[in-house]
Amino acid sequence: ATSEKLVLSERHGPVLVLTLNRPKALNALSSPLFGELNKEFDAAQRDDAVRAVVLTGGEKVFAAGADIKEMKDKTLAQSYKENYLASWAKITDFTKPVVGAVNGYALGGGCELAMMCDILLASPTATFGQPEITLGILPGAGGTQRLTHLVGKARAMDIVLTGRKVKADEAERIGLVSRIVQGDGKECVAEAVKVATLIAGYGGIAVQAAKEAVNAANNLPLNEGLRLERRLFHAMFGTADQKEGMAAFAEKRKPSFSHL
Ligand code: CAA
Repeated sequence: ATSEKLVLSERHGPVLVLTLNRPKALNALSSPLFGELNKEFDAAQRDDAVRAVVLTGGEKVFAAGADIKEMKDKTLAQSYKENYLASWAKITDFTKPVVGAVNGYALGGGCELAMMCDILLASPTATFGQPEITLGILPGAGGTQRLTHLVGKARAMDIVLTGRKVKADEAERIGLVSRIVQGDGKECVAEAVKVATLIAGYGGIAVQAAKEAVNAANNLPLNEGLRLERRLFHAMFGTADQKEGMAAFAEKRKPSFSHL
């Protein structure tokens, strides 16, 4: 039914949990689904009470890629004029931390979406891959770029040109995921909420600056990246959270951050 939400949202204190909810199509990332996801991220960006997001696809599958049935009859002119897939990158403008929890398949666009998360947790069932080559196309939402930054050219070529599946243990070994959470899918999501809650308790400005600085490492030459890091570091001395964090250390108590 059209009224069914394609992205479920649930609050756990300062953490917003977003769950892709199109199970019959293995969470294939249709334009309506991505539209809802972008709306959720827009709202979360504006809501000061949300300090971290967990993104998951549920217990059996993260996402089996872009919606092939939606794509199959597209022409070059259509895809070019609508700048197909450009809207997917909006998530990467989100300034708060995003913890991904992958259970089951994260293929094609699903793998690309997972790689947009800041921290990526995976259960032992997680299976990654960029199978676009098997469909007569190439990855279109970061699979040749983010993947290469994460795992290096040799491994990215192996994954992108063969379309083979990458199981959780290999994904962890090559640096595609941050870590594996043992147990079933529920435990992986619960751990993601725990990690997000921990980060949400830190000073929000410091968290935002740390995310900005780490992301800059992929885009800037080292000297510029180091300069950006140092400038952001200097800026922290203008925040209440720096005063509180260091005063609390000196007074041997827990800090209470105001995110100011
Ligand atoms: N798009 C649309 N529908 C999809 C889909 C997708 N990416 N993946 C799965 N589905 C649908 C299937 O068509 C099927 O629907 P019906 O019941 O109506 O037939 C339903 O989900 C269940 O799928 P399967 O029966 O295939 O399930 P399975 O367990 O046998 O296989 C799978 C699982 C290996 C993930 C298999 O579904 C598969 O290979 N899916 C496609 C993966 C893929 O190629 N992804 C890349 C897409 S292109 C892309 O993402 C471009 C980009 O860079 C952005």
